[in-house]
Amino acid sequence: MKGIILAAGKGSRLYPMTRPVCKPLLPVYDKPMIYYPLAVLLQAGIRDILIIIPPGEEGPFYRLLGSGGRFGVNIAYEVQDMARGIADALLIGRQFVGTDDVCLVLGDNIFYSPDFESYLNKALALGEGACVFGYYVDDPRAFGVVEFDERGRAVSIEEKPRYPKSNYIVPGLYFYDNDVMEIARNLKPSARGELEITDVNLEYLRRGKLHVVKLDRDFVWLDAGTADNLLSASQEVKRVQDETGRYIACLEEIAYQRGYIDHQTLVRHATDLNKTLYGRYLECL
Ligand code: G1P
Repeated sequence: MKGIILAAGKGSRLYPMTRPVCKPLLPVYDKPMIYYPLAVLLQAGIRDILIIIPPGEEGPFYRLLGSGGRFGVNIAYEVQDMARGIADALLIGRQFVGTDDVCLVLGDNIFYSPDFESYLNKALALGEGACVFGYYVDDPRAFGVVEFDERGRAVSIEEKPRYPKSNYIVPGLYFYDNDVMEIARNLKPSARGELEITDVNLEYLRRGKLHVVKLDRDFVWLDAGTADNLLSASQEVKRVQDETGRYIACLEEIAYQRGYIDHQTLVRHATDLNKTLYGRYLECL
């Protein structure tokens, strides 16, 4: 399976912070935002990764992540020159995906749960169709909203509905079989002029091939797209790390545990970062 991170948003809801630095490179507590979706792909065992970035940002991304060798993965980059919607990421990545399945994750979404890998395994085990998640929020109006029938099966999804039919939103983590490439090619722009990921999910729903896995209420999902969300995301990451003693999105740790890098490489990275708590955490692994 291939992985795509859509990290091309200019971050205009975060101006002036995002004038000199694009949104995915801003810090969420102690790591750049892009570490969080990257950690999701590494945890899912995906090692071929395409990051879709805004124009002119190749240098900073490359300085931070290079071609992925630090974490034992392959990272390629493509530029999205203008915002055409989330599903456009699939069109930009069509050569990269080829005939594989694909996991798409949004560059400003943060996922954390001690059981996260069991959720990922459910998605990876499907083999056919699409798998997305349902996450309970108090106010779902700014998101894709999924409605379930009494047996817990998804029956509708609406993008940013004025009158939501449920409190379950679809967060920005999507698993698709290769049919998604044909579905994406046939999409028409929505009223806001974008190729909507909700329309992709609706097509899978129509074909009877959409699986929606509900995330537990204690699952942490954060969208760091506004100043308030960015601050709460940082506070939440710090709270979880302080309380559990475990680091969220520690890429070197995931890479080491999964055998993508060896202990010597881990120690080298830890030494490099030893002025930080993050580096000292690595030294103890
Ligand atoms: C997008 C999707 C929406 C999803 C959300 C998750 O919203 O369109 O379905 O629930 O990401 O962050 P947008 O970022 O375009 O507001």
